[in-house]
Amino acid sequence: MDRFCGSASLMIVSDLDFTMVDHLDPDNLSLLRFNALWEAYYRQNSLLVFSSGRSPTIYKQLKNEKPLLTPDITIMSVGTEIMYGESMARDDDWEKYLNHRWNREIVTEETAKFPELTPQAETEQRPHKVSFFVEKIKALEVIGALTELLEKRGLDVKVIYSNVTALDILPKRAGKGQALAYLLKKFEANGKVPINTLVCGDSGNDAELFSIPEVYGVMVSNAQEELLQWHVENAKSNSNIIHATERCASGIIQAIGSFRLGPNVSPRDIKDFQKCRAEIFGPSHEVLKFYLFYERWRRAEVEKSIEYMKSLKLVLFPLGTFVHPSGVEQPVDHCIEAMTRLYGDKQGKQYQIWLDQVSSAQVGSDTWLVKFYKWELSGEERHCCLTRVLLSSKVSMLSIFNCHFPS
Ligand code: GLC
Ligand code: MG
Repeated sequence: MDRFCGSASLMIVSDLDFTMVDHLDPDNLSLLRFNALWEAYYRQNSLLVFSSGRSPTIYKQLKNEKPLLTPDITIMSVGTEIMYGESMARDDDWEKYLNHRWNREIVTEETAKFPELTPQAETEQRPHKVSFFVEKIKALEVIGALTELLEKRGLDVKVIYSNVTALDILPKRAGKGQALAYLLKKFEANGKVPINTLVCGDSGNDAELFSIPEVYGVMVSNAQEELLQWHVENAKSNSNIIHATERCASGIIQAIGSFRLGPNVSPRDIKDFQKCRAEIFGPSHEVLKFYLFYERWRRAEVEKSIEYMKSLKLVLFPLGTFVHPSGVEQPVDHCIEAMTRLYGDKQGKQYQIWLDQVSSAQVGSDTWLVKFYKWELSGEERHCCLTRVLLSSKVSMLSIFNCHFPS
């Protein structure tokens, strides 16, 4: 949260399953579009918050399966657990606050009286979340009866129905919306309220996010009926909420454009990098473009341009050597030759590159040092490498060092 001084220019608070992640898209194209956009233009001065129903255990599984960026804040288990930074430091104050009129044992005792409720996996039962599956036709009745019973036992709970199947019981103070309100209050106390906040969701447990004042909201095109119905009943006249025409992460990009929250053309949408010269020089953007070119080069999706390789050599040469993470130095021209040889070696195969946590620092009048995690997916294999790039705006090209470069 303290990565930069001042307020974030944009804070995105997004659900994961079927919002950030499209489980029907095996190539994760919309997620990769979002990732490239975020790292090129937003990472340096904005905040990414994931808000999911998943417990930390199955959130980690998703992270291993999908090309998810590292968020600044992770809200898990339907707004009952808040964690900060890459190290995922827990917010213990939040959890203490949720103890108010909450007693897990009583919830388990009372829910046992409902045979319609099938308990979810053990990993999804959390200190402030008790979860079941229930058929849609029985859901309304169960929610009413259960809320009443628990109130009689002195608890203050909320029961949320999502994905036309999942039923979560949480303390009244919890939930995705309440967790966001808590974060905004914290930012306010530090004088750092984000300039714009965009919330993104697809199902019932996301509804609360859309009722937080002064936020923009996008329900992705594939949103579930329970969220769309909630919107019709509660927020129809709010012009700061849209129902995107695009699925999942592409719907989020669409909302950034509709609400004019900042750049909305992902580097992945650029077909010809040579023709596209950004008006404002952006170190992160340049690095993103290089790796996208590299991905397309290996997939033979760009022309095999010897000219490009020559210019790359010219630009890189004055700056010297590549240093492989193992410490082995390689002359630049060897690396360029290696890249030339790799043209098309991934043609027709699954091969994707994405960058995470791109940060840059100006180290000279026209020189930047850009640092990031470079992820490479090749078939079933995934590799990550902390990479540094020295970039000069004079030549508007990059030189890469300390980089895991294929040789
Ligand atoms: C996630 C959680 C599950 C919860 C559902 C809806 O799928 O794993 O426990 O019920 O979200 O909130
Ligand atoms: Mg979802």
